[in-house]
Amino acid sequence: MNASPPVSATPPPPDGDALAPVYAQYPFEVDRAEGVWLIGPHGERVLDLYGGHAVAALGYGHPGWTEALAAQARTCQFQTNALPMSVRTRAAQRLLAFSQLDFASVFLVNSGAEANENALRLALRMTGRPHVAAVEGAFHGRTAAASAVTWGSQSWYGFPRTPFDVSFLPRGDLDAIAAQVTERTAAVIVEPVQGLAGAVDLGAPYLAALRERCDAVGAQLIFDEVQCGFGRVGAPYAAGLYGVMPDMLTTAKALGNGFPVAALLTSARVSATLKIGLLGTTYGGGPMACAALLATIEAIESARLLENVRRVSAYIRRTCLTGPVSAMQGEGFLLGLRTRRPAKQVQAELLRRGILAGTASDPDVVRLLPPFILQEAQVDLLRQALTDIGA
Ligand SMILES: Cc1ncc(COP(=O)(O)O)c(C=O)c1O
Repeated sequence: MNASPPVSATPPPPDGDALAPVYAQYPFEVDRAEGVWLIGPHGERVLDLYGGHAVAALGYGHPGWTEALAAQARTCQFQTNALPMSVRTRAAQRLLAFSQLDFASVFLVNSGAEANENALRLALRMTGRPHVAAVEGAFHGRTAAASAVTWGSQSWYGFPRTPFDVSFLPRGDLDAIAAQVTERTAAVIVEPVQGLAGAVDLGAPYLAALRERCDAVGAQLIFDEVQCGFGRVGAPYAAGLYGVMPDMLTTAKALGNGFPVAALLTSARVSATLKIGLLGTTYGGGPMACAALLATIEAIESARLLENVRRVSAYIRRTCLTGPVSAMQGEGFLLGLRTRRPAKQVQAELLRRGILAGTASDPDVVRLLPPFILQEAQVDLLRQALTDIGA
């Protein structure tokens, strides 16, 4: 009998920890987290004003959310969308009710990019047209269609061509809307408050102008509320805040408070074009995702967290125009602090003082995306740190 070959020692990863080297790493390791605090391996505490890219809406260790996930895991952790489950129906119904918008159906998926990919696909299919307009500064995700409408994606796009013609509308330019959104246009996709661009609020008049032009030429209006939606602007969605109703709306990030869940909400007209087999996903709409969504809405509503977002956001605006901060932009808990020196420097100084904030594609904007439970006393720590950093 041949002896089995000797087991060779696992070769060391080529460079460090075996993770693909695609993310720059902050100099702080998270061991655990509670409330709005991240805690390092030696007990060091960092105030989290970034929420894991706008995801941790309830902060960390929320008892209701944690128990809902544990209970769903005990009950049934997964089943296909082809088998009816009441948790899935309840999640869709509750999301529609939470939105306070007149959508007819919900398609549950896993990520913001996947929701956008499906929205664009529906618009192109419905209209049979070859062109999509997006807005300069936009970020819509990393998949083929979503990144085709992402501003500046050429440097990492990778595909030989985009799946449709794309043009970018300069922000605020109403003439450009008339010139670029035409009978060739299947859809306009827009973040009502742009996230990665630095919390750039496009405002009601601009969004209304997009709505009007889409109606005039028969194009679909898609609101990407992946970052700004689900309460972050202090209202359920920016569409409601600005009184402009899109044909489709995509939502993700805060939706599951960290459990991957995203959704595409469609108007009655768009929903009428849906049929069996047109859209699909394995994990989207899984019972754990649905339980996470239900528990997140329950927590937001029962603790009136959107009121908290509005009140504490106003407090940040009133008190944090200090040190390197020269102006503020954005809405609710999607705020951009315009800095007098490079935002990356200010971000590093904040982290040295125990506060995690984000940056943006605008090099002079520090971005805040805190959990909805943030309190004034914690904002005071930010104000003090900014004052200490100085102009
Ligand atoms: C506005 C917006 N749309 C889409 C996406 C993509 O979402 P995901 O990373 O879940 O695919 C993001 C992610 O940052 C985003 O901010």
